[in-house]
Amino acid sequence: MSDHGAPFGHTPDESPTTVVDRIGLLVTNDPAIGDGPLGIVRDAALVLQGERVVAVERAGAAGDRRVDVEGRCVLPGFVDSHTHLVFAGDRSDEFVARMAGAPYAAGGIRTTVDATRAATDEELRALTAHRQHEAWRAGITTLEIKSGYGLDVHHERRCLRVAEELSAQTTFLGAHVVPPEFDGRTDDYVELVCGEMLDAASPHARWIDAFCEVGAFDADQCRAVLAAGAARGLGGRLHANQLGHGPGVQLGVEMGCASVDHCTYLSDDDIDALASSTTVATFLPAADFSTRQPYPDARRALDAGVRAALATNCNPGSSYTTSMSFCIALAVRDLRMTIEEAVAAATVGGAAALRAPHVGTLRPGSNADLVVLDAPSYTHLVYRPGVPLVHRTWQGGRVVGA
Ligand code: NIG
Repeated sequence: MSDHGAPFGHTPDESPTTVVDRIGLLVTNDPAIGDGPLGIVRDAALVLQGERVVAVERAGAAGDRRVDVEGRCVLPGFVDSHTHLVFAGDRSDEFVARMAGAPYAAGGIRTTVDATRAATDEELRALTAHRQHEAWRAGITTLEIKSGYGLDVHHERRCLRVAEELSAQTTFLGAHVVPPEFDGRTDDYVELVCGEMLDAASPHARWIDAFCEVGAFDADQCRAVLAAGAARGLGGRLHANQLGHGPGVQLGVEMGCASVDHCTYLSDDDIDALASSTTVATFLPAADFSTRQPYPDARRALDAGVRAALATNCNPGSSYTTSMSFCIALAVRDLRMTIEEAVAAATVGGAAALRAPHVGTLRPGSNADLVVLDAPSYTHLVYRPGVPLVHRTWQGGRVVGA
């Protein structure tokens, strides 16, 4: 089996190899290596060297060091392509009110902006690092992290500087909502976002994002933000069609965004546009759960050939979770994905949404990012909802969560 990765099978790297051995069921996400779209290999071993996978072998493969996983299921580490991890404060009161019938209208974002601006650098760093550890324990090995709770030049840059200490996948979301000091002057705020704020943010960001929704920013304002980001070399992503139908999905496709996120409301034209593009539809079902929105019709999108990702959208307002397993379970039960589609969306789909070719797969050359489940199959992620099934998380060849 190692032949499948010949270019990486005989690396000149002399560092010791680690064999993750006696894997009962291995998901490689490479149909050239194993069965079906998930590229499943049974009774397998993964050979790691440094930060990379160097071979997929039969159980019992030789190596310098051996870790016996005793028949457990191993998957690529989850790729969480949408989080708002840098924030301070708590909005559980808002959640309680929502469960009693209040609607979600994103107005609470300003509450988090106040708390985030008031936090010290050390507090923000510690809060964000704590959430990253929580994500590792949940099997997430790649985290996209957005700003968006600073909303002025100083605090947006500050949030991105915290984010870039933890991830290379950082996103400038100055166009999250209009801060109170710009009430009634949305165009002036967009000018700030596209000018001075982008100057401060772009050295710390890989992506630019905007919230295209009634009450946030319209299509022309989002187009201006995405274009300004592109002119600085930032890739585009967009919050689109979360709270109702709108122009966001088609704008994201028009602007060549890597991903349009939420997609809770999808028209036939939205689906056609996505299906004939390279833009990934990222579904965030934990937000639909927490805001009592309807679930998106992912089945219709997938059947039309749309590429899908699943992400947690971890944030204090609409989705305070780091559990990708929960998102997978919702995606299967309520978005009507098959279990295999949901697992792919949470791994290689997230990698496509971040245009990150070395994550989301386990084949020679992939990052040595993996999740060992305390279960014989990934099916248990859905069959046993709410149970913490992650036994170990490896990132870059070392254990980061247990
Ligand atoms: O992706 N929709 C906009 N942004 C976040 C929610 C932020 C909040 O409510 O604090 C989201 O759901």
